Amino acid sequence: MTNIILIGFMGSGKTSIGRKLARKLNYTFIDSDEWIATQENQTIASIFESKGETYFRELEYVFIQSLHGKTEIVLSTGGGMPCYKNAMDLLNSLGTTVYLQRSVLDLVHRVSHSKTKRPLVNGKTSDELKQYIQSMLEIRNSFYEQAHWVADRKIQTHNQLIRFLVESGEVLPEIEN
Ligand code: S3P
Repeated sequence: MTNIILIGFMGSGKTSIGRKLARKLNYTFIDSDEWIATQENQTIASIFESKGETYFRELEYVFIQSLHGKTEIVLSTGGGMPCYKNAMDLLNSLGTTVYLQRSVLDLVHRVSHSKTKRPLVNGKTSDELKQYIQSMLEIRNSFYEQAHWVADRKIQTHNQLIRFLVESGEVLPEIEN
């Protein structure tokens, strides 16, 4: 069976939906940030702080390559991962990519209420956050929209997403029960 790869802006719910999706499908769940933090024995925030963003992007890029040949994985990606070099092509070749699309306001709300420490938005006021998300989405959407499927807000619980993937023929119908 194929892999399911969730992409989208920070705060779009990739990790929580991915975890539930993997459980339901009986696939292995991998969160790229968790994987990188474990490999480096450092939090994502401290990798950004001590080694910089480009170093982190290279780690993400190497991580994608390490997945070659793996199957039955639900992968939750970091929000910037698809936008570096040809990463989006690599992700598309690894399995079925799904863009969890959310509005700017929704993302602002979710990011500002999240417990996860995100170095790129740390310390921003809610106006600054809104500006930042708006301008980053303008750049990132052209990558995110290369996903095989765009999951808009109508299909953003794991159950709705599973139903959608079954109906699209991406996963077997049996697992729905
Ligand atoms: C980032 C998103 C984060 C994490 C890092 C950079 C980004 O992951 O990879 O802080 O560039 O959007 P989430 O999307 O899981 O928050």
